[in-house]
Amino acid sequence: MTRSSQLILLAMPSIHAGAWRYPGAVADFQCRFEQMKWFAQMLEQGRFDGLFLPDTLALRPVALQALARGHSTVTLDPLTLLPALAAVTQHIGLIGTASTTYNEPYMLARRLASLDHISAGRAGWNLVTSSNANEAGNFGQKEHMEHSQRYARAREFTTVMNGLWDSWEPDAFCRDVDSGVFFDAEKMHTLDHHGKYFSVRGPLNVDRSPQGRPVIVQAGASEAGRQVAAETAEVIFTYQTDLDSARQFYDDMQSRALATGRCEALKIIPAVFVVLGRTAEEAQAKRALLDSLVDEQSSLATLSVALGHDISAYDPHGLLPEIPQSNASKSGRERVVQLARRENLSILALARRICGYQGLEMVGTATTVADAMQLWFEQGVADGFNVMFSHFPGGVSEFVTQVIPELQSRGLLRDHYTSTTLRGNLGL
Ligand SMILES: Cc1cc2nc3c(=O)[nH]c(=O)nc-3n(C[C@H](O)[C@H](O)[C@H](O)COP(=O)(O)O)c2cc1C
Repeated sequence: MTRSSQLILLAMPSIHAGAWRYPGAVADFQCRFEQMKWFAQMLEQGRFDGLFLPDTLALRPVALQALARGHSTVTLDPLTLLPALAAVTQHIGLIGTASTTYNEPYMLARRLASLDHISAGRAGWNLVTSSNANEAGNFGQKEHMEHSQRYARAREFTTVMNGLWDSWEPDAFCRDVDSGVFFDAEKMHTLDHHGKYFSVRGPLNVDRSPQGRPVIVQAGASEAGRQVAAETAEVIFTYQTDLDSARQFYDDMQSRALATGRCEALKIIPAVFVVLGRTAEEAQAKRALLDSLVDEQSSLATLSVALGHDISAYDPHGLLPEIPQSNASKSGRERVVQLARRENLSILALARRICGYQGLEMVGTATTVADAMQLWFEQGVADGFNVMFSHFPGGVSEFVTQVIPELQSRGLLRDHYTSTTLRGNLGL
């Protein structure tokens, strides 16, 4: 398996809870088409491979008082926004999140195939199983489906999606005016799927799309999540924060993929929060300012979500007690508990850290950020990064004007797009 000599760069809206209050930030950019258009076009100018839009189908399960201080309570539906962004961009990949727990595969296959047509081959799907239990209440369910069941459903969902995307051979539509034959019936495939979760006849009533199958992205981190990711995804998002755990994750995912009979390498992309300054001190001061803008109550509420357990009854200045397992993200809970134990953090300190973003971060100058990206890439523990900027729009333009030229001058990033499709640009 040969690795590309260049980084994959994706970007997503920042999830730092203080970002919307940063001086000069546009607080509601995720809900404003003109702002998202600027975002996509700016990323394209920076030769990013793709714009990634996360999603959830309900408000987070926290107290209203805390919710009212968070910035990503409302966003636009990714699969409505991305086709509009496709029309105002030419090269950048457009990756939307959609849940396998609260969708039907026929509808989603149709919408993603349509996005792939509209964008001329730039569509990607971030497959999630929904870690937010509140989503159940918006779909007539009393209980959120159990974690392993969600992944079993996701596996079958993806099988159906792939089958539907293969409904038509590339040259099925001859549209022969003289003979009057619109498509060759032998080149149409009816899926006829009957499984535990779905019965889907097919075929899809959308023509085969430019990529055939949109690129599938996944971020499973638990045992079940990793296994489904290794079987179904081409790109894997991760939260790894140090080289050793990143290497373990990278190797584990590649060997799982090989064991399922897949011969192509998966692309492993850690999410990274970037804060830039002209000096290291300036960058640290910006980070400290961002963290100081995170509200105390809101951060405690976010910690409850991360743990899948309400911690409001505990003393915020005390240590974290034993927290029971829940039906939310298992790996997420584990990471938070370990951080608290490792650094002996009080509940409040832990909460602030988590809201300030607890994953991989690169805080420094354009040179040191490029150094860190190069190190992770050359150590073979990451194929690229999913970048979150300190604030919008300033953090985005700083990255594009300062870090991108640095990466290009080191030969780590393209000067021009080399393919017309997302899969082509990703080197898949
Ligand atoms: C970069 C990144 C983006 C993610 N985006 C979403 C999202 O938009 N919606 C969602 O429900 N989960 C999202 N997740 C969470 C994952 O889908 C997954 O639930 C999580 O990594 C925990 O894995 P597990 O379910 O195997 O425990 C994201 C994870 C990562 C690392």
